[in-house]
Order: sequence, then C-alpha cells, then structure tokens
Amino acid sequence: MQKNCIYLDNNATTKVDPQVVEAMLPYLTDFYGNPSSMHTFGGQLAKGVKTAREQLATLLGADESEIVYTSCGTEGDNAAIRAALLAQPEKRHIITTQVEHPAVLNVCKQLETQGYSVTYLSVNNQGQLDLNELEASLTGKTALVSIMYANNETGTVFPIEQIGLRVKEHGALFHVDAVQVVGKIPLNMKTSTIDILTLSGHKLHAPKGIGALYVRRGVRFRPLLLGGHQERGRRAGTENVPGIIGLGKAAELELLHLEEATKRERRLRDRLEKTLLATIPDCVVNGDPTQRLPNTTNIGFKYIEGEAILLLLNKFGICASSGSACTSGSLEPSHVLRAMGLPYTTLHGSIRFSLSRYTTETEIDQVIEVMPGIVERLRALSPFKNDDAGWLQGQSLVTSH
Ligand SMILES: Cc1ncc(COP(=O)(O)O)c(C=O)c1O
Repeated sequence: MQKNCIYLDNNATTKVDPQVVEAMLPYLTDFYGNPSSMHTFGGQLAKGVKTAREQLATLLGADESEIVYTSCGTEGDNAAIRAALLAQPEKRHIITTQVEHPAVLNVCKQLETQGYSVTYLSVNNQGQLDLNELEASLTGKTALVSIMYANNETGTVFPIEQIGLRVKEHGALFHVDAVQVVGKIPLNMKTSTIDILTLSGHKLHAPKGIGALYVRRGVRFRPLLLGGHQERGRRAGTENVPGIIGLGKAAELELLHLEEATKRERRLRDRLEKTLLATIPDCVVNGDPTQRLPNTTNIGFKYIEGEAILLLLNKFGICASSGSACTSGSLEPSHVLRAMGLPYTTLHGSIRFSLSRYTTETEIDQVIEVMPGIVERLRALSPFKNDDAGWLQGQSLVTSH
C-alpha cells in the first residue's frame, strides 16, 4: 500500500490497529505452543485464547461458549449454512436474498444442484427487502433463512429483528451474515432472534485469516471441518492463536470506540456525500438513505465508468471501490446494484467510499477537492454525456461479449 494513501475502502478490509499487533506479537514469538497441549507452555496459550473469547463474546452480548472461531467470513457463511441444513435433514428449502455476498450466494447456488430449493428475495431500488415477500416464502419446509445484516456495497441495513420474528414463527433457523456490521452497530445476542451470526476479523481492525461464528446455545451445529475436538467439536484444526488474540483485542477496542467512531464516521460520510452531490451534476446515492451503515456511501456518477474513476482517484492516492468486476474484457456491473434495478446510466459509474475510525477530515477534504475534476474530465471524454439512449446502446455492446 502507498504510504500516504487516503484509504476509503474499509468495507473491503481495514488497517490492523497497532494495539492489536502489540497484543498478537508475543503469540508469534514466545508463546508458540499448541493450546490443546497438556503441558504448562500450551496452557499459557489457552488462557490467552479464553480471554480473547470473552472479549469477543462481550462485543456481541453473547456467552463465550457460543463463539466458534473460523478462518474468515467466507468459511463462517459456508459452515453456518451447511450446519443449519445438516441439523434438519428433513427440510430442504432455504430463503436468502439477491444481494448477499458470494460467500452465501454461491453456496446456495450449489445447494440447488443438490436437491434444495432456494428463494432469492428481491430488493427495491433502495436495496430494501419486502417483508411480505419473506412471509409469503416461509413454509414449514424452510430449514434456513440466511440474510445479511448490512450490504457491503451500499451499506443498506436490513430490519434483522423484524425478519427474525417472522422466521421464528415458522420454525426455521436464522443465519445472519454480519461481516459488515460487527463493530459498526451495537449488537446484543441475548435479546436477538439470530441463531447463527458470521463475522470476520479483517473488517474490524484485526488481521486477515481469523473470523468467528456466534452459535446460539441449543442450536444443533454440525461442523463443516472434521478432525480434532477444537472449538468443542464445532470446528476442527489447530487454533490460529495470534489471530484469535488479535480479534479479541480488536473486539475490545471496537466496544471502546463504537459510539464515538460511529458518530464521527457518519458526520464525515454525510459531509462527503452532501458536498459531492452539491458540486457534481448527475449523481445519485445508491442505497437506503436512512437505514444505512454509518461509514458507507455508494454514489452513482452518470455516463462514466466506475473503473475509470477509480484509476484517476488512485493517481491522487485515493483508494475506493466500484461494484463492478472486470472480467475477460467485459464490465459486469454489481449484482447488488442490478438487483436494485438501477438504470444503466448509474449502474456502471458507481463508486463506494467506506470510512473507518482512522479516516480524517483532511482526507475527506481531499476527496471533495479532486472528485469534481475527475468526473468532469471523464464526462468530457464520454460520447454518451447527456445521451441516455446512446449510453444504453454503448453499454449493451460492451456487456454482450
Ligand atoms: C457481507 C460479507 N460477507 C462475507 C464476506 C467474506 O468475508 P472474508 O473476506 O473474511 O472471507 C465479506 C467480505 O467482503 C462481506 O462483505
């Protein structure tokens, strides 16, 4: 990473907090034993792991016995879905949404080839669900409802507890991918309807390679990985001790900073968003304007390509992201923005800025300063400026090969 980069891509990953690094270091040097060993050396690690588990459980309002460590959010989502289905083999219906992360969507797609039926709930143009559609889809055969807490691309937050109440009425298990939410919205599993929750360390200033599941006590959980008895038989494999210690410290720090950081990030995000909307013509915010993560804004700049904006931002040392994946010469717009039914004119020119507690006023000022020039420059080159019909035609050519 460039040393002086302005990092506004925190929904992709976050900077590891120096205090987290400090907490982890002894476990990468002196305390290298295996926490399952019988000797005192191993036992010292087990104590550290226990403390870390308590720190994470406290952030979630959960009991430490309800935490199962994983390697990442993707493993957590895979394990949660498989576990929920194995626990109720007689039920073969799953409900999810069209806007989930691929870690959920691709598992569901594979399950469809294995005899499961999957309902993919639609969203409106603000990325919100229709709870009537959920009600109508739930049946006694529904084994699992897997719905994200907040969307990684738009930040739209779903009404998870309202959803959970409906899910419970039908006796299905409720899995929530909260990878983008832990540390950004206060959670209390004691009063929640969630049965299984996924989180990932690298989204909350812990390192990559560590994640966790919250599994409500009493929920039957069949492990994805079979082997030793680690994690009370729920996830085999020698523990990633430094990662667990780091995630524990990160959880403690999130709890400490949550209220203050959330306020600050919301204020900076709103300033960025309002100023860009006021100074740049033809741009719109994608997502729910009120039910949204405090750190995220996704803005569609009409008539230009998101990738081109990113390249120019990069020249100014600004890191953001677009929802498009550039594959084999074709520009595939984000499945999330497509599910929202956004017009082509905004679909291709959407940029996500995602802040963290490290984001400064000066950094936001710099983005505000450079963005109008970047958009103007690209629009000057765009043959489709102010020409929706031409843009549509041009896009269909680009995406058809
Ligand atoms: C909502 C959501 N779920 C799951 C994941 C996957 O997490 P990981 O990168 O830890 O595998 C991500 C990562 O971006 C995410 O945003």
